[in-house]
Amino acid sequence: MKPKDKIIQGDALEVLKKIDDNFVDLGITSPPYNKGEKNKGWLVRNVKYNVANDNLAEEIYQKQQIQVLNEIFRVTKPGGSFFYNHKTRWTQGKMLHPIEWLEKTNWTVRQEIIWDRMIAANISGWRFWQIDERIYWLYKPIDGNKIGKELKSKHALLTSIWRFPPERKNGHPAPFPLLLPTRIIYSILDDEKGIVLDPYVGSGTTCLAAKLLGLNYIGIDISKEYVKDAEKRLKNYLNCKKIVDEEISKHFVEKTFADRKNNNGNTGKYRNGITSPQAKLL
Ligand SMILES: C[S@@+](CC[C@H](N)C(=O)[O-])C[C@H]1O[C@@H](n2cnc3c(N)ncnc32)[C@H](O)[C@@H]1O
Repeated sequence: MKPKDKIIQGDALEVLKKIDDNFVDLGITSPPYNKGEKNKGWLVRNVKYNVANDNLAEEIYQKQQIQVLNEIFRVTKPGGSFFYNHKTRWTQGKMLHPIEWLEKTNWTVRQEIIWDRMIAANISGWRFWQIDERIYWLYKPIDGNKIGKELKSKHALLTSIWRFPPERKNGHPAPFPLLLPTRIIYSILDDEKGIVLDPYVGSGTTCLAAKLLGLNYIGIDISKEYVKDAEKRLKNYLNCKKIVDEEISKHFVEKTFADRKNNNGNTGKYRNGITSPQAKLL
């Protein structure tokens, strides 16, 4: 099937299997993290979804993630990308790093981006307060070429550390902020049109960003309630236009990489100690 501008209720893997090969231009998701649903931290209760079980044996969880990621690879066009938001976890003192299963998929891992959330709900004393998450840029090569095309300078000069807080005004238990998919879609597709996929769409944030940027979307979620809420959110999409406009205004450079190279100039370091992606780039 070739769904367009639809939020589909169902299991991600089963729905993905029905989508045509090479149909999607870009994907973004934050899957359930398999955090165990136990009361691990002591500030607030752990995330609980209304339908999905976030307490699988880790081996089964990773196997399922690999299957879903490979199905996304199949439905993505060659040259297309998928951005996978996850985090490092620990079980019985052993670190579980997403790269363990990402390297077992068909995707090429193009970059690891640190999302500095500046705050996180759970804290306990075994480690320093974990306020970062990761965003993996996964790439589907064209004819075996794993490098792919360059980003425009105005996008590439945003750094590999993204600093913005988590979403607060949203009834879903674990939404990401609208800024996150907006930055990804605009950086990767620039002014091109296309179809954006999120197989664990929750409150519909990825689809909302796609719609505000004038693109088509496909969302999938196992929860009927979340699908209904996401559809409602999409109807009122213009309420969030300001956030998207603000993000777009940050993708700005006075000199492109080519300009700088031609003038023997600095090809991309921040000057005057400005290191934040929020800062105007010099
Ligand atoms: C971290 S949340 C995604 C939140 C989303 N990024 C947002 O901004 O609202 C993960 C979502 O995956 C959904 N989910 C869990 N297991 C699923 C499955 N097997 N198939 C589809 N969706 C699933 C949950 O219902 C939940 O909404």
